[in-house]
Amino acid sequence: MKSLAPNRDELDPMEIASVDEIQSTQLRRMKWSVRHAYDNVPMYRARFDAAGLHPDDLKELSDLAELPFTYKDDLRANYPFGLFAVPQDQIARLHASSGTTGKPTVVGYTRNDLDMWADMVARSLRASGTRPGDVVHNAYGYGLFTGGLGAHAGAERLGCTVVPVSGGMTERQVTLIQDFKPSTIMVTPSYMLNILEEFERAGLDPRASSLNVGIFGAEPWTNKMRREVEQAFDMHAVDIYGLSEILGPGVANECVETKDGLHIWEDHFYPEIINPDTGDVLPDGEMGELVFTTLTKEGLPMIRYRTRDLSRLLPGTARSLRRMEKITGRSDDMIILRGVNIFPTQIEELVLAASDLAPHFQIALHRDQSKDIMRVMAEASLASAGHDQREAASNALAKRIKDIVGVSVEVNVLEPGGVERSQGKARRVIDNRPKE
Ligand code: DLL
Repeated sequence: MKSLAPNRDELDPMEIASVDEIQSTQLRRMKWSVRHAYDNVPMYRARFDAAGLHPDDLKELSDLAELPFTYKDDLRANYPFGLFAVPQDQIARLHASSGTTGKPTVVGYTRNDLDMWADMVARSLRASGTRPGDVVHNAYGYGLFTGGLGAHAGAERLGCTVVPVSGGMTERQVTLIQDFKPSTIMVTPSYMLNILEEFERAGLDPRASSLNVGIFGAEPWTNKMRREVEQAFDMHAVDIYGLSEILGPGVANECVETKDGLHIWEDHFYPEIINPDTGDVLPDGEMGELVFTTLTKEGLPMIRYRTRDLSRLLPGTARSLRRMEKITGRSDDMIILRGVNIFPTQIEELVLAASDLAPHFQIALHRDQSKDIMRVMAEASLASAGHDQREAASNALAKRIKDIVGVSVEVNVLEPGGVERSQGKARRVIDNRPKE
């Protein structure tokens, strides 16, 4: 694989600033952001007043810990525009979650916010090894989801040629990659596996494709998956993180030269790690829930937003800005099965380690009398699709899960193509247990 690290003189000054410089910028911006939220968003004013706190009390970065948290439910309760800090006519763009579980959450951006977003995605692309003039195949979904348009604007900002293909129609994705010769693909990791499958189905060698860089995010994925995709396409695979409430894609990104966790663009998004049960701030290096405060956003400032994503903060390496470890999972995706905590990423690791399995899987949960049952649906590789081979693969995976994760599960290794394919974010868990 080609070395793609950018030169130091291509970076934004903040990416290579000293820790002191970063912190003084953060403090200045944090004071502005907290004041902006207090002055313009009734919910923040009411909460700070109730807690006897005032924006002027914020003297140091650590004072932020005094302020109350913001939750996804706060966006729902203030649906649609109640948390916006500017009049609606200054909002240039809306995005929203799909709203499959209740009211959608709506986010809004001013023109300056859209500008900052494009800058952060451009920074992310550059960190990934993409260069001005490169062709970028953007298979994140366009529309209310922040992935497509967010990635698009950043690629344009960097000076790339963008192919706005969006998700789906996998055959066409492969044709366009063959014809337009992108250096970079931006897509969810699970959908990248579909694209890989389509290359193989069409009899094309993915290693011979033009792709040098894959920028994968919007869902958890493991280092095992990274190796699988890097090997299959002979390209670099880097992680991009973000969430609509804070920005969309481009809150944090890995650097192609180190691939050691995601540098948080903390000159715009101030991270904390907290104990999710007590709410206490944990020191860097400890595992907990990520909380973000926006430092420059005008339309929808977020003060101490609880992401539910689990990670830890690590010092800067390729950039001075701190890193977050690759996300293990969301606290709401954690399955508690007979007292054992399980993340879908743990199952992903074991599925990918089995040479007789394809890299697709889903987990189904149901209750039998009072016992919770977990079934893992995996899929045989083409070379191991016979009935007896699938039986053996099922037993082997069940044993690995028992040995490594520590729970007994049912495993069903299906024929090739048997597991539902993702078009964007993969649906890893189907929970059929009665709601408590
Ligand atoms: O998924 C934004 C995005 C688009 C990020 C494209 C990267 C690429 P939401 O739909 O609001 O926004 O979902 C946010 O997705 O809280 C995480 O749980 C998860 N997530 C996003 N990126 C990653 C990642 C977009 N790199 C939620 N690793 C977040 C693990 C991720 N989980």
